[in-house]
Amino acid sequence: MKLGMNFMIFLVLVSCFWLVPTFAAKQQKLRFDENGEFKILQVADMHYANGEKTLCLDVLPSQNASCSDLNTTAFIHRMILAEKPNLIVFTGDNIFGFDSANSAKSMDAAFAPAIASNIPWVAVLGNHDQEGTLSREGVMKYIVGMNNTLSRVKPRKVRSIDGFGNYNLEVGGVRDSDFEKKSVLNLYFLDSGDYSKVAKISGYDWIKPSQQVWFEKTSAKLRKKYIKGHVPQKEAAPGLAYFHIPLPEYASFDSSNMTGVKMETDGGDGISSASVNSGFFTTLVAAGDVKAVFVGHDHINDFCGKLMDIQLCYAGGFGYHAYGQAGWSRRARVVVASLEKTGKGSWGDVESIKTWKRLDDEHLTRIDSEVLWSKSSRGSSG
Ligand SMILES: *[C@@H]1O[C@H](CO)[C@@H](O)[C@H](O)[C@H]1NC(C)=O
Ligand SMILES: *[C@@H]1O[C@H](CO)[C@@H](O)[C@H](O)[C@H]1NC(C)=O
Ligand SMILES: *[C@@H]1O[C@H](CO)[C@@H](O)[C@H](O)[C@H]1NC(C)=O
Ligand SMILES: *[C@@H]1O[C@H](CO)[C@@H](O)[C@H](O)[C@H]1NC(C)=O
Repeated sequence: MKLGMNFMIFLVLVSCFWLVPTFAAKQQKLRFDENGEFKILQVADMHYANGEKTLCLDVLPSQNASCSDLNTTAFIHRMILAEKPNLIVFTGDNIFGFDSANSAKSMDAAFAPAIASNIPWVAVLGNHDQEGTLSREGVMKYIVGMNNTLSRVKPRKVRSIDGFGNYNLEVGGVRDSDFEKKSVLNLYFLDSGDYSKVAKISGYDWIKPSQQVWFEKTSAKLRKKYIKGHVPQKEAAPGLAYFHIPLPEYASFDSSNMTGVKMETDGGDGISSASVNSGFFTTLVAAGDVKAVFVGHDHINDFCGKLMDIQLCYAGGFGYHAYGQAGWSRRARVVVASLEKTGKGSWGDVESIKTWKRLDDEHLTRIDSEVLWSKSSRGSSG
C-alpha cells in the first residue's frame, strides 16, 4: 500500500517532468495557419535611439520638425495591423548605439510594438547595435530575455560559434494535416557581425566558417528528417535565411534582372558587403534548401534578384533615425509561404513563396509583388 502510494507520487512527478517541457515546446512551435499560410514581416534598420527626443534623418524639410523615433514605432504598429504576420523578423541595426543613452531602454522601445502584438518575433544584430551601453553579447542576451521572442544567443547543442544570434526555427505544417509534425519551412538566422577584426582586411564583417559549418549540419539534419518518417519527401523543405550585411553576390544584379531599386553608391557597386568573400553563398548553393536570403544594411537598396536559384533580397530601410532619401518612403518587406492544397481537402507542403513591400505612406502602398520560389518551377531554371 505504502509502496503503491510512493509509486503513484513517482508517476505523477515523472509525468509532470515530461509534460511541462512538452507544453512549453508546443506553445512556442511555429506552424502554418488553417489557411495554409505563414507570413513573415521583415523590419530592417530601425536605428532606434531615445524615442521622442531622437529626430529623423533624410525626411523632407516639411516633415523634419514633427518626426522622431516615434514615427518608427507608429510604422511598426501600422504594419502589424495591416499584415497580421505569423512572425516578425528584425534584421539588425535595431538600435543605433551611438545615439542611444541606454541600449536596454532603446530596445524596450524599439521592440515594444512587436511584444504588444503577441506575435512571435526574432532579431539578429547589425553593425550598430553594440555601439551603446551594451556589447554585442549583451544586446543579444537582452533580446533573448524579452517577451514573446524566439531569438537565441546561439544554436542548441553547439559549444562554440562565432557571433551572437545564430539559430534556426522550424515551421510546422497545418495542424491535423499529414505535415503537422514536419517542418515544411526552415528559417535560419545568422550574425553577420560588424567590422573586420583582421588587421589587413578593412570594412564590414562576414559570416565565419564556424557559422557555415553549423548551417551545413543543420540543413543536412533537417533534410534527413524531411525525407524520412511519415509522408517522406523527395527533397529538403524550402528554407529562408535572415541576417544583416549583404553577401558580395548581391552585386550581381542591375535593373534588367532585379525587382526593386539599387540607389546606394558605396564602393561603386552600391553593395556594402565585406571586402572579402567568406563563401557563404557557395555554402547556400551547395546545401540547396535555402530559396531566399533577406538582409538590411543598405537602406536605399530594396531589391530582390535571383542568382543560381537563390533570391537575394533587401528589405529597404524602415527606421526614421536611419539615413535614407527624403521623399522616398521608409518601407518593410513581407514574405508569405503558401501550402499546396491536397486532394483530401487538407494541406501539403510549401507550394510557393511570395513577397511584396509596403511603404510608410497614407495607404501603406504595396509594391513590387513577386513570386520568389514555387514548387512547380523547382529545378527548371539555372
Ligand atoms: C531638422 O530639425 C532639427 C531640429 O530642429 C535640426 O537640427 C536639423 O538641422 C533639421 N534638418 C533639416 C534638414 O532641416
Ligand atoms: C511623424 O509622426 C507625426 C505625428 O503623427 C506626423 O505628423 C508626421 O507626419 C510623421 N512624419 C513622417 C515623416 O511620417
Ligand atoms: C512579460 O510577460 C509577463 C507575462 O505575461 C508579464 O508579467 C511581464 O510584465 C512582461 N514583461 C514585460 C517587460 O512586458
Ligand atoms: C544581370 O544583367 C547584367 C547585364 O545587364 C549581367 O551583367 C548580370 O550578369 C545579370 N545578372 C544575373 C544574376 O543574371
